[in-house]
Amino acid sequence: MLAGVADLHAVVTGGGRGIGAAIAATLKKHDARVTILGRDITALSAVVAAGAADAYFAVDITDEAVLQGCLAKVMVDIGPVDILVNNAGAAATSPFLKSSNADFRAMLEVNLLGAVTASRALLPGMIARKFGRIINIASTAGLKGYPYVSAYVTAKHALMGFTRALASETAQKGITVNAVCPGFTDTDMVARSIDTIVQKTGRTPEAARAELTRGNPQGRLVTPSEVAETVYFLARRESAAVTGAALPVAGGEI
Ligand code: NAI
Repeated sequence: MLAGVADLHAVVTGGGRGIGAAIAATLKKHDARVTILGRDITALSAVVAAGAADAYFAVDITDEAVLQGCLAKVMVDIGPVDILVNNAGAAATSPFLKSSNADFRAMLEVNLLGAVTASRALLPGMIARKFGRIINIASTAGLKGYPYVSAYVTAKHALMGFTRALASETAQKGITVNAVCPGFTDTDMVARSIDTIVQKTGRTPEAARAELTRGNPQGRLVTPSEVAETVYFLARRESAAVTGAALPVAGGEI
């Protein structure tokens, strides 16, 4: 009998780099078929060439119609989707009083509505086959507040609400919906945050990095593969009773 994620088809958004690329590689290592979505064709094709995914599609997840069309094509060209990992996201930094509603809308588009659109597109197939795993990459920012990222924190809290609501709505359909909540993780996103702190405060990169690791009781950044292994745990066939959960991967910060 098949176990784990063997032979299941996973779609990972934002799979060209960072946490998304690590999730693709980890699911592939455990014998899933993996399709990655993202904007940067060079990065996506490099992940496929390295054997960490089977196929890629270029798409901006904030364009509802285009994302729907892309996922319809994935289902026709590659096959039904068993696992959806809503990983693509972005973080904007600014003091609240310097932010606009447009900044909040942009954070909601990329961190919440992309996951909503993708879930709506793939859920009918999961319901028909009585099996599905939807895993949303939220953040510790979906569980607590941080200064100077109010729009991002708001959007990730909204993603948590969506996760819990959809988990309860699909609980009797063989589908689980969960969130993984990383703390600061060693990717380009954190490299950009370090650059911003250096620019805005004049601190050294080392001091800026220490600022980010201070909140983690382990005193370090999380690694993308640590996040990916948690996604694998939730994606497995054997994790059928875990739904509506938020799993922090944050060295004890939460
Ligand atoms: P990253 O910036 O290295 O990668 C983000 C990926 O999402 C990229 O492949 C990017 O092209 C893609 N993406 C962004 N906007 C997109 C759009 N409109 N359409 C299609 N693809 C798009 O970031 P990282 O660190 O790998 O982040 C992945 C997820 O993990 C994000 O949702 C982020 O919010 C979350 N996260 C990251 C943490 C960190 O400290 N790095 C901590 C907690 C959560």
